[in-house]
Amino acid sequence: MEHKGFTVWFTGLSGAGKSTLANLVEKELRCRNMKVEVLDGDVIRTHLSKGLGFSKEDRDTNIRRIGWVCQVLSRNGVVAVAAAISPYHDIRDEIRANVKDFVEVYVEAPISVLAERDVKGLYKKALAGEIKNFTGVSDPYEAPVNPEVVCHSDRETVEESLSKIMGKLQQLGYVSS
Ligand code: ADX
Repeated sequence: MEHKGFTVWFTGLSGAGKSTLANLVEKELRCRNMKVEVLDGDVIRTHLSKGLGFSKEDRDTNIRRIGWVCQVLSRNGVVAVAAAISPYHDIRDEIRANVKDFVEVYVEAPISVLAERDVKGLYKKALAGEIKNFTGVSDPYEAPVNPEVVCHSDRETVEESLSKIMGKLQQLGYVSS
């Protein structure tokens, strides 16, 4: 059976767990014989968006590029799974309008928890003023108003978050139960 393409768009602060969940969703969908491509902000910034920084303009460019790739993959029967901070509401909605089948997943965790975890050591530097315009510390993050799924990574296990996401994909008819 030919599967329908769609986009799962993860948004949330650095270290909230977007990439972890994106990779698990990829695995789940591949098990169902679906074609999947993960577009991770950190990875995209090493090639497609190489040279871009973290001003609003550069972030918008990064997100529009990722959104465009999601759009072309989705319309060709591939599931695109994007995992980028994507801090600005207007650009996320622009992508939603361009990608027909768009499922937004907000991975939420309080900044205090993320700064405490600090997997990449970036919050420490940002809080010390060593990184300018760091999302959530010295740069804005606009939380989604109406995301299809909200995962609370500080108080849910990854399995719980994953099953929320898969449940929503089933409910929306993208994945069979
Ligand atoms: S986005 O804002 O354009 O969506 P993206 O997800 O691609 O961001 O990249 C975020 C990653 O870049 C973070 O996880 C972190 O590792 C790194 N990073 C470096 N500088 C910053 C910064 N000023 N703000 C946020 N993330 C940063």
